Amino acid sequence: MKKIKLAVLPGDGIGQEVTQAALPVMDALAIPYEASFGDIGWEFWKNEGNPVPERTWQLIENSDATLLGAITSKPEREAEEELAVPLKNFGLRYVSPVVQLRQRLDLFANVRPCFNIQHDKSFRCSIIRENTEGLYAGFDFYPMPEAIKQLVNKSPWDNYPEKDMSCALRIQSRHGLKRLFHFSFEYARQNHYTKVTFADKPNVLRKSSIFAREIFEEIAACYPEIKAEIHNVDAVALWLVRRPEEFGVIVAENMFGDILSDLAGGVMGGLGFAPSANIGMKNSYFEPVHGSAPRVKLNTANPSAMFLTIGLMLDHLGYSVEAKKIHMALVKTIQQGKYLTYDLDGLASTQDMAQAIIGNL
Ligand code: NAI
Ligand code: MG
Repeated sequence: MKKIKLAVLPGDGIGQEVTQAALPVMDALAIPYEASFGDIGWEFWKNEGNPVPERTWQLIENSDATLLGAITSKPEREAEEELAVPLKNFGLRYVSPVVQLRQRLDLFANVRPCFNIQHDKSFRCSIIRENTEGLYAGFDFYPMPEAIKQLVNKSPWDNYPEKDMSCALRIQSRHGLKRLFHFSFEYARQNHYTKVTFADKPNVLRKSSIFAREIFEEIAACYPEIKAEIHNVDAVALWLVRRPEEFGVIVAENMFGDILSDLAGGVMGGLGFAPSANIGMKNSYFEPVHGSAPRVKLNTANPSAMFLTIGLMLDHLGYSVEAKKIHMALVKTIQQGKYLTYDLDGLASTQDMAQAIIGNL
């Protein structure tokens, strides 16, 4: 069987630990693969002036799939301060590696499944966050540009100077929304979901929401067997906490999806559980939702999110049975309650819990 060429980018902090602990599950499942490890993250920003060195892009390009651990990302001022002295004053600008990956590989759909793993309550839904445009498209300004100031011709803002105002644009395109909604309904169909909920803010962002709604309805009409609905994002947040079992696929623009999917991570039982997939027309990469968690003590991070992330990757590569086995082994490990990390009120190390999961396969 052809071996899967896998690019593994452990990254920073607990990204390293959870990757190392969970990757052996691939061998335990007898997946034919070959891993090549690549550089990404804060160290490479500090020492090379680029958190995603060119050699890493090459590696990704030559691989069938990419697995990322987690990265550390800091605001502009800290990034400049921590840059190695010989690299200072060349005008190097820090751009978060995850933003770089999503934009350069055009990974427009960020898929974050949310299901019961700890609780008796049964639910299964999936947040699909738009990844390339919306309020995070990168048109974020301070001071307020003159051209935009012209549009803000209402009191009190028309009286303020540009230097006392900032703004961000919520960019949405027909192209971007069409592919997002298409993907969402296809995903619903393939994963046996019966409903797609578009979480937006039609009662406040009136024009842009109408634009999105028309496209949503047009695409929904191609999937008559799937129920389509639009709700205010804040109401969706509330109901996701109260009644997660009511949802199937939830699709949202970049910022709304960002917030909802972290909330969904909380509904699952914490960031230690939440997996994600970033998917485009040609490319993809897979990562736990959590970051590098510098406050977590060495080798105590919960490896579950990474296990489930590997499951998403395997599912994407056609190994659905193996993905299901990972899920079941994890559930069993939690039910046994013996090898659990601190966030699950246990004392096990990352390695202990990972080995227990692999043992339960
Ligand atoms: P974080 O996700 O790294 O951690 C937040 C908190 O969640 C931790 O302090 C811990 O209490 C808990 N947590 C997260 N993962 C856990 C795990 N596997 N096991 C047990 N507990 C876990 O978010 P934070 O602290 O806001 O950011 C830390 C760094 O990570 C920052 O530099 C941030 O920019 C970066 N980050 C990177 C992401 C990525 O790689 N895609 C995503 C989010 C943040
Ligand atoms: Mg987030």
